[in-house]
Amino acid sequence: MQATGSMSFKTAIVHHSAGGNTKVLAEVLASLLPEAELFRVLEFDIRTVHEYDSLIVGTYTWGNGELPARMSAFYSELEQMPISHLKTGVFGTGETNYNHFCGAVDQFRDMLFAKSQLVATLKIEQMYQEADLPRIKKFASLFTN
Ligand SMILES: Cc1cc2nc3c(=O)[nH]c(=O)nc-3n(C[C@H](O)[C@H](O)[C@H](O)COP(=O)(O)O)c2cc1C
Repeated sequence: MQATGSMSFKTAIVHHSAGGNTKVLAEVLASLLPEAELFRVLEFDIRTVHEYDSLIVGTYTWGNGELPARMSAFYSELEQMPISHLKTGVFGTGETNYNHFCGAVDQFRDMLFAKSQLVATLKIEQMYQEADLPRIKKFASLFTN
């Protein structure tokens, strides 16, 4: 008898970036997780979230440790969804010279810890560097299969 194909494990990477740092990081993660689907936050239909096994959220930080407006809307929508089954992760870029480095990552972390199966967070200083790759790879490896 022939195998009927492997069970598909669906991962969505949903990100928001203004200047590109978070976008590039999202693309690196997507390249490490070839099965994952990469979305800009505005493209992602929140009503499809139940179709996924894993959700990885990527955001920069604005204001004083705050979520950018578009991510804030996504945060509120996600919080209302039944996501207790979801394996989740949060990554972001920020700048350590602000009082609250990657504050937006911390906000998502706290909500996703309460509402879903939070696995890991990843904070990167602006544009990722070669030296960040081991941490990026480790984060990605937690979402393979
Ligand atoms: C007005 C403004 C406020 C910011 N506030 C913070 C902050 O509170 N914490 C932080 O870690 N980074 C802060 N940043 C830095 C950005 O999050 C950082 O440059 C990030 O990499 C930008 O990501 P992007 O290129 O994907 O848009 C701020 C940047 C600007 C311009």
